[in-house]
Amino acid sequence: MTDLDSAVWPISVSRTPAGVLAVGGIDADALATEHGTPVWVVDEADFRARAVAFREEFTAAFAPLGAVVDVYYAGKAFLCTAVARWVTEEGLGLDTCSAGELAVAIRAGVPGPRIGIHGNNKSDGEIARALEYGAGRIVLDSTAEIARVADAAAQHGVRAPVMLRITTGVHAGGHEFIATAHEDQKFGVSMAGDQALAALVGILARPELDLLGIHCHIGSQIHDVAAFEVTARRMLQLRAQFAAATGVLLPEVDLGGGDGISYLPGEPALPISVAAQAIADTVGAACQELGTPVPRISIEPGRAIAGPSTFTLYRVGVVKPVTLEDGTLRTYVSVDGGMSDNPRPNLYGAEYTAVIANRVSRAGPALCRVVGKHCETGDIVIRDIQLPGDIAPGDLLAVPGTGAYGRSMASNYNLVPRPPVVSVRDAASRVIVRRETVVDLLALDVD
Ligand code: LLP
Repeated sequence: MTDLDSAVWPISVSRTPAGVLAVGGIDADALATEHGTPVWVVDEADFRARAVAFREEFTAAFAPLGAVVDVYYAGKAFLCTAVARWVTEEGLGLDTCSAGELAVAIRAGVPGPRIGIHGNNKSDGEIARALEYGAGRIVLDSTAEIARVADAAAQHGVRAPVMLRITTGVHAGGHEFIATAHEDQKFGVSMAGDQALAALVGILARPELDLLGIHCHIGSQIHDVAAFEVTARRMLQLRAQFAAATGVLLPEVDLGGGDGISYLPGEPALPISVAAQAIADTVGAACQELGTPVPRISIEPGRAIAGPSTFTLYRVGVVKPVTLEDGTLRTYVSVDGGMSDNPRPNLYGAEYTAVIANRVSRAGPALCRVVGKHCETGDIVIRDIQLPGDIAPGDLLAVPGTGAYGRSMASNYNLVPRPPVVSVRDAASRVIVRRETVVDLLALDVD
């Protein structure tokens, strides 16, 4: 049907003959009846397909260079036990950045060598757990962490596999990127003034550390592949410089995540195949110019796997027309969730689209603002959207693209329990994260 732009909806989404939105062979009415609303609905096949696409496209693009690519799913976008298993089954590694994410990975049985650990302020407990479980890489984020992780490795009687996070001066996200020489941010060790080189030399001096390579992550929701190209060049230059200074050629370069997706119909995304080919071409050319062999490459996509495979299904409650000062009409459409399940509009001015899911309407469009149920005026899901003018209490509203940084950044504001995540596949649905209850909320209170 025409109201479902395939760029923003999970691949299996369609309308039934009766006009109800369906995903994975189940219609939205049935999902709402069985699981309640709000609910995040994940198309499992779509999620898996995006994970596979990253692995296959990057592997194919780098194969002519004789280079291996490892894809680590960035769990911060959305992580639960089922998702950790999906990505593992599809041949990806898993990036974690806290004891909580690591605990999920361990619970899911993700093998240690396929787990990466990030964080600019890792706790002693997080470092110890990573070493005990045999995590495949700890990404050192500062010079201070060199001694901390080396000492912890000595205590555990292991050699810790590490990378060093480099800040490359490239910052990207949204629709533009900037490349500067200096850094003013909390992550990583800057290339400026040879700080990164000095830190890498410091790592080599600690025999408890096994230096795998260098890592960077330049931003999120990136649409311009040039940002990745500039970054890759800078990283490879640093690798060549380090080789010239020490004779050690680092085996691996991690280029982080950041691939952008479409949230709105017509908004450009960065197709995985385009990113893969452009980055491979740049890496190949840069290595040739520098006279260094092509390294093993790793990437860490989060949003581009989790985001488009999921939509949020809300139930419409109050519908309130308001006449604005210029005489136009705005219809406030209140849904049964809001900023607690999607803080992104508030935090980043993020924009989303939506459709009525339980029916197709022939009514003319009305200017609407989709708002939540929270006690805050800024509790907005979609600031401006044209929805059918007959939208009414009881309708289901589906908002696509909410799989990344939705559940993972959800809160209990106003003590609203967080919605469940339900996966659909082959006409069956399964709760993969259950709905929070008031009992869960009360369980934290101490009398
Ligand atoms: N690797 C590292 C080290 C990261 O810090 C991140 C995201 C990723 C990979 C994954 O990036 P992605 O492919 O998902 O863009 N809360 C924000 C996004 C924060 C991203 C933080 N780091 C949002 O909702 O837009």
